[in-house]
Amino acid sequence: MERIRSAIDKAREARGENTPARRARPELPAALAENWQMLAQADVNPRLLHRNRILAIEGGPESGPFDMLRTKVLQQMRANNWRRLAITSPTSGCGKTTTSANLAFSFARQPELRVVVVEADMRRPALAKTLGQKGIGHQFGRVLAGQASWAEHMLRIGSNLAFATNAAPVNHSAELLQSATARRALEEVERALDPSVMIFDTPPLLVSDDTLGFLDQVDCVLLVAEAETTTIDEIDNCEQDLAARSNVLGVVLNKCRYMGKGYGYDYDYGY
Ligand SMILES: Nc1ncnc2c1ncn2[C@@H]1O[C@H](COP(=O)(O)OP(=O)(O)OP(=O)(O)O)[C@@H](O)[C@H]1O
Ligand SMILES: [Mg+2]
Repeated sequence: MERIRSAIDKAREARGENTPARRARPELPAALAENWQMLAQADVNPRLLHRNRILAIEGGPESGPFDMLRTKVLQQMRANNWRRLAITSPTSGCGKTTTSANLAFSFARQPELRVVVVEADMRRPALAKTLGQKGIGHQFGRVLAGQASWAEHMLRIGSNLAFATNAAPVNHSAELLQSATARRALEEVERALDPSVMIFDTPPLLVSDDTLGFLDQVDCVLLVAEAETTTIDEIDNCEQDLAARSNVLGVVLNKCRYMGKGYGYDYDYGY
C-alpha cells in the first residue's frame, strides 16, 4: 500500500498537484509490529489491480461504493464486537473475491485498522491472481492443515493489510475448514496479527458445503448476488441458510449495468 501511495504521490507531484496530507499511522506494540514485519511484502502493480477491478486502493469515485460498504460493515461489526466477516454468494462468479479484495483495500485506508483476508475458497483459489501475485506460491491451506507457519504463507501490502492465499486447489477443503487444526491455526493468526477485521473469501453456498460448515467460525456474513443472474429464490434460500447460522449483514448486488446517477458519480458496483 505504501509503495502504491508513493507512486500515486509521485505522479501527483509530477502533475504539479499537492500531495495530500497523510494521516499518521498509530504506533503498534513492538511484538505486534514485529509479527506484521515477518510477512513478505507484496510487490503490487496498481494498473494490474485496476484491470482486475480492484478499485479501492485509493479514495475517489471508483472506490465510493466500497467505502460506503466498508463503513456500514464496520459500524455493525464494531457495535457487536465482531471481527470475522465471511463473503459468500449463491453460485460461482458473483464477485466474492473482487468484493473481498476491494473491501479489504478500503478498510486498510483507515490507518488505525489492521486487515487480514483469508482465502477460504480453496477449491478454486483466485485471490493471488486477482492481486497480481500468481507466482508467489503461498499455500495457506498448509497453514490450516497445521503443516506450515502462518508467517510463511501470507503476504503484506503496506503495513496493515495481509492476504492469505493459495497457489493451488486444496483437497478435502470442506473437511479442512471444519477441522480443529484449522480453527487453531486461525486463532493463532488472530493472536499474532490482531486484525480489526478478518475477511474470509468463501466458496459459493449452493455449490458445496464448505461455507455452511465454516459459518460457526465467523461472526457475520455478506452475501454477494450477481445482477441479472442470481435469482430471488437463490438469494432467499441462501439468506435463510446464513441467518440460521450467522449474522447476515446484507446482500451486495454486484455487476449492475443500470445504476442511478447519484451525487454526480456513476458507479459500476451496486449493493
Ligand atoms: N462489478 C463487476 N462488474 C463487472 N465484472 C465484475 C464485477 N465484479 C467482478 N467482476 C468480474 O467477474 C469475474 C468473477 O468475479 P470474482 O472472481 O470476484 O467472483 P467470485 O464470486 O469470487 O467467483 P468464484 O465463485 O469463481 O470464486 C471476474 O472476472 C471479475 O473481474
Ligand atoms: Mg472467488
